[in-house]
Amino acid sequence: MNVPTENEIRDATFAVEFTHRLRFTHDVFGGDAHTLTELLESSEGRIPKVQFWLDDQVSLASPDLKHRIQRFCSRHDQTVQVTGNIQVVPGGEGAKNDIHLIERMLKCFNHADLDRRSYVIVIGGGAVLDAVGFAVAIAHRGLRLIRIPTTTLAQGDSGIGVKNSINLFQKKNWVGTFAVPWAVINDRKLIETLSDRDFCCGFSEAVKVSLLKSGTFFEHIHRDAPAIRQRKAEAWAVIAESAQWHLRHITAGGDPFEMLEARPLDYGHWSAHKLEVMTGFELRHGEAVAIGVAVDTIYSSMAHGLSPADADRILDCLEQLGLLLDHPALQDTEALFSGLEEFRQHLGGRLTVTMLDGIGRPIDVHEIDHELMRQAISVVAERVGRSRSTT
Ligand SMILES: NC(=O)c1ccc[n+]([C@@H]2O[C@H](COP(=O)([O-])OP(=O)(O)OC[C@H]3O[C@@H](n4cnc5c(N)ncnc54)[C@H](O)[C@@H]3O)[C@@H](O)[C@H]2O)c1
Ligand SMILES: [Zn+2]
Repeated sequence: MNVPTENEIRDATFAVEFTHRLRFTHDVFGGDAHTLTELLESSEGRIPKVQFWLDDQVSLASPDLKHRIQRFCSRHDQTVQVTGNIQVVPGGEGAKNDIHLIERMLKCFNHADLDRRSYVIVIGGGAVLDAVGFAVAIAHRGLRLIRIPTTTLAQGDSGIGVKNSINLFQKKNWVGTFAVPWAVINDRKLIETLSDRDFCCGFSEAVKVSLLKSGTFFEHIHRDAPAIRQRKAEAWAVIAESAQWHLRHITAGGDPFEMLEARPLDYGHWSAHKLEVMTGFELRHGEAVAIGVAVDTIYSSMAHGLSPADADRILDCLEQLGLLLDHPALQDTEALFSGLEEFRQHLGGRLTVTMLDGIGRPIDVHEIDHELMRQAISVVAERVGRSRSTT
């Protein structure tokens, strides 16, 4: 091989191949246990080490879950070497608001001698998945992460993604990495204990992905909204389709690690992230996203050619899902607009926000007309006020 001289050295591009393993189960620690064991590869004949991390609210809501995990482990002790107790983390945004929890996680991984071929299996809502996923990504520069999401939001959206993070400096997702999970298992049984509030609000991300990717998918969600709210079969179909769109975006969309200036999956999120912080996380991520999607939808109809009839259908869909909410924080537009600057800073470069010029037709915009945005916010607030007074 000819070694190039210093003057001949040029940029070298390279690509790395990843596999994203997405599975759907009915009872992953019962009848579908093989789905999990088949994902655990042994290396050089050694039984893989596995450590379990569990959202405390999931554990509380299913008192027999720990026992079922332990039974799964003892039944499969030829394929799974469990290290340490099942670790429990506070569920919800609190898991992402305490950086010291990350240190505790790293200590547990170290104590169990986990290495880059070991598996951390995390069971919980999107917040717990994000926090544990971050610790997993930085330990030894990355252990193998198996996510078992337990909310509608995490099964249809965040659990499929390749991001993890915690909050810092009163800013959402300020610390984190991109890391492709080893696998994601969407299990139906684990979601059964979810409260109605959390069950419904996860569908705001499904609405979001439909608005970006497929008018037909949006029609289905809109048509099935009442059935979704009642947790009928249609809800599972929407979660599965949302997860598939998400997967396709990551694996075939050309920008899994968000190097380009647009972050289309963050439609409605510039205000949502800010609202979560402004309300001290009183609003759930899914609820804040529903508000953010409603506001950017009205703005899109005022400034970017989305038809008013389509905008109305989108808000109606959110309403039918029980998601069209208003919050007093929405009136503090100056604080809210600082969310736009934080959104820009996160990626660097010029501001790029996704808007719609039709359902399924996202566009990138680089400027927001603040006066028009204020009007869009008022339209959403007034609509919520009207629907409240008629119910
Ligand atoms: N990494 C990403 O790409 C990405 C994308 C979107 C959202 N997110 C993040 O996801 C988080 C929101 O996740 P979420 O909507 O899943 O909410 P969450 O994790 O905050 O969960 C909501 C509540 O439900 C509880 N819970 C979870 N599963 C349960 C179950 N089966 N039974 C009973 N209680 C249960 C949790 O403990 C919590 O109290 C936010 O922090 C958001 O920023 C990350
Ligand atoms: Zn989101």
